[in-house]
Formats: sequence, structure tokens, C-alpha cells
Amino acid sequence: MTIHLLFEELSFAGLPLRDLVKSFIMFNLCACLIVFAWQKCKSLTQGTQRSSTPDLDKPSSRRNDRDKPAREWGVWKPSAFKRPPASPYPGWDIQSSKPIPYRPFQYGPKHFVTMGLRSMKWDEWIELDNHYLKYHADKKRRIEERGEKCFGTAPEAMDGAIELLEELCEYLPERYPTMFQKTTTGITNTLTGEIFDITQRPLPEDPMAIAARLIQDDLAIMAERPDGEYYLLAGAILLSGFWRLSDKFGMPLSEIHTSGNVPQFREKLERGMMNFFRRLKPEEPVLRNNYFIQVDDDLAWSHSIGSEDSEAVSWNTAAKNKAIEHHYFRSERQSLRRLPRSGVVVFTIRTYFEPVTEIAKEPYVPGRLASAIRSWGDDVSRYKGKEKYADVLLEYLDQKHEEQVKAGLDLEKEEELRKYPF
Ligand code: HEM
Repeated sequence: MTIHLLFEELSFAGLPLRDLVKSFIMFNLCACLIVFAWQKCKSLTQGTQRSSTPDLDKPSSRRNDRDKPAREWGVWKPSAFKRPPASPYPGWDIQSSKPIPYRPFQYGPKHFVTMGLRSMKWDEWIELDNHYLKYHADKKRRIEERGEKCFGTAPEAMDGAIELLEELCEYLPERYPTMFQKTTTGITNTLTGEIFDITQRPLPEDPMAIAARLIQDDLAIMAERPDGEYYLLAGAILLSGFWRLSDKFGMPLSEIHTSGNVPQFREKLERGMMNFFRRLKPEEPVLRNNYFIQVDDDLAWSHSIGSEDSEAVSWNTAAKNKAIEHHYFRSERQSLRRLPRSGVVVFTIRTYFEPVTEIAKEPYVPGRLASAIRSWGDDVSRYKGKEKYADVLLEYLDQKHEEQVKAGLDLEKEEELRKYPF
């Protein structure tokens, strides 16, 4: 009997085998089609929500989700890792390179509180631009005027702070060779004429105050203690706008955030952040961006929320519905990396600050910003002071959006032209 005949003859539960095989194939084909269609739908909806800070947010997707790392908490064995040398920033020039236009807000209808971490390329650790001299002057003035209220290093974090300074003295001349020169004892800033000898002991100045004057970022150092918590033990917080180093110095990460009523911190952020910090490797730096609206033009300290020296500061003191000219867009680009020798985690905070009336000229920006602000829940709205500016700001953004649409803005193209965080 040929195989063909055998196939014709065989049957199962009264059905010929041939029909059974046909049904089986049809069934599998249908299942594949359903799964394919479902995945396509999912990716399309995700596309319209423009969610783009995915993988690193869920530590469990990349790492094993147990709390306890393999090493003992608070003990760091120096790692052999060395940051790859940075290549010079192509075409960068201190006079003409403009600030990078980060626009890290996403369309509603719902706003999700997430860590929003993404990987960082080593070359891009520190960003400098033609606003450098203003930042430098503001920082210098703040250090002189406010002294140790805005910078400091606990003895426990001194080695980490010096390692950070050494790292900057290596990185900056590599990345911005037209502005920095490495010397045998430190670094020269050819723009300001400052020469730093970082080999003296004790250092003539606090290392965080020196480090912060080399760049436009504010800086913080988090050190792990044997309880597995990360403490803010060194910092130069000079242009932070809304918070003061003196309020948070020495605090563990969770208290830094809960004392500031960061929305949904306990429910959505705390556990992921703890895991992230404990597991962060020197070779895996990350970035995140955020944004705020500010209703005055002071980069260093937003006096609308109260004097920097008052006991408590809050949005309650801010005037409501100021004219649109007083609305500023404030956005931080933060990086996190663990330094290989000391094991401390360095947190850099670079603030970008522009009038709302300027960013609203950019295609898609007014429409998307208005949608993002409308999507904030009550907690986020309270935290970001929305009731003080929403009426004026949203009316303005809606109007600018309408003008852009009338002038032919192609809404279908946005996805292609602007990817998060732009
Ligand atoms: C994975 C790392 C971190 C995440 C995901 C995170 C998340 C957040 C979020 C969501 C906020 C609310 C404002 C915003 O949207 O950015 C916030 C505020 C803040 N974070 Fe973090 N943060 C991280 C690391 C740090 C570190 C290392 C410090 C150390 C100085 C810090 C200090 C603060 C402060 C001072 C505020 C303002 C709190 C206030 O309003 O009083 N954060 N953080």
C-alpha cells in the first residue's frame, strides 16, 4: 500500500486523517493570523502614545528582580572598568553651538509616572553649549553668595567626589578639546582662563564646587551604606530652581523624594529605583529627562515659589495667571553612572531653560505640550503648580497650535520627525 493510500485510509474518531490534518493546518493558520493582528494593533497604539522610555524602566526586564545584589551592601570592590575615551564633539563651538532642544513631553490622554531611564552613550555624558558663560557666572556668584548651603562633600564621599573631578578632567579635554586642556596636575579652561590643580591635598576648594564650575550641570553624589540605601553625601546644587541642597543633604533617596511629595513615588518609583541603584554597573550609564513650567525668569532659583531662604517653599505663594511672557519651560537632562573606583553613583542635572513663547514656535511643540499638561493627574498637577498657569498657558498653546495647523502642519509626520525626548 502506498503512503498516499495509507493516508486516505487512516481515520481518527470516524474522521479521515486527511480532513484532520487539513483542520489542524487551518486552525494553526488562523491562530497565527490572530496573534499577528494583535501584535500589530499593540505596536500601533504604542506608537501613537509615543512611549519611548521602555526597557530600563522595568529592572526585571533586564535584570534579575531579587532585591539583594551579589555583593555586600555598602562595600565596593574597585572595578577594572575604564570609560572609553570620548571623541571630540563634531562641529562643536562654544560661540555657536546652541542648547539641545529637549522637549520630553508626550501626548495624553493619560500621563504615566515612570522612571523614564534610557541608556547613555559615553561620548554624551556632559553637554556644553553657547550658554556656558551665563551658567558659569551664575554658579560662581551662587558659590560666593550662598556658600555651603549649595555645595558640600561629606568625608565619607570625599574619595568619590575626587574621582568625579578626575573623571571630568579626563573627559572634558577629550570631548571639548577647543575649550579644555588636560595638564599634568588637572585641567585648564581656556575660555575662562581658570587653571585647576586637583593633585593638592587637601584640595584648596571643595571638589564638588570645582567640578560644578567646569560644566553647566548641577551635581550630586549618592553613596551606598551597609543598609543598602543610597545617601546624598556630596553635591553642588547651584541652578536647581525648585529645591535646596541644604534641605536634602544626608538624606536617603526615598526621603529625598517623599519629602518633596514626588507624585506616586511610593507606588510607582521607589522599588524600581532601589533595585536600579543597587544594581547599577560602572559600564551602564543612563539618562532621563523631565520638564516643568516656571513663572519667572530666574534659572538659579524660581522666586515665585518663595524666597530661597524662607523655611518652606511652595507653589501656593506663586501669583496666578501671569502674562505668557513670564512663562518659562524648564527641562532637566539627568545622567546617572557609577564610578568604578569608589563605587559612588554620580547624578548630573543639566537644566535647559527657555521662554515658552520661544519653544511654542517649533512645529508640533505647542500642541503636544498642551496635550501633555492636560494629561497630568491631580497629583502631578499639584506638584507642578498647574493651577497657577494653566489658564493662560493652555489658551496660548492652543492658539499657537491652531496657527501651525492652519499654516499646513502635517500632524501625520510628527512621529517620523520628532522622537522622544525631542
Ligand atoms: C533613577 C533615578 C531617579 C528617578 C527615576 C527620579 C525620579 C524623580 C521624579 C519623577 C521626580 C519628580 C520630578 C520629575 O519629574 O523629575 C523627582 C524629583 C526629585 N528628585 Fe529624583 N529621581 C532619581 C534620582 C534622583 C537622585 C539621585 C537625586 C539626588 C539628589 C534626586 C533628587 C530629586 C529631587 C531633589 C527632586 C525634587 C523633589 C522636590 O520637589 O522636593 N533624584 N525625582
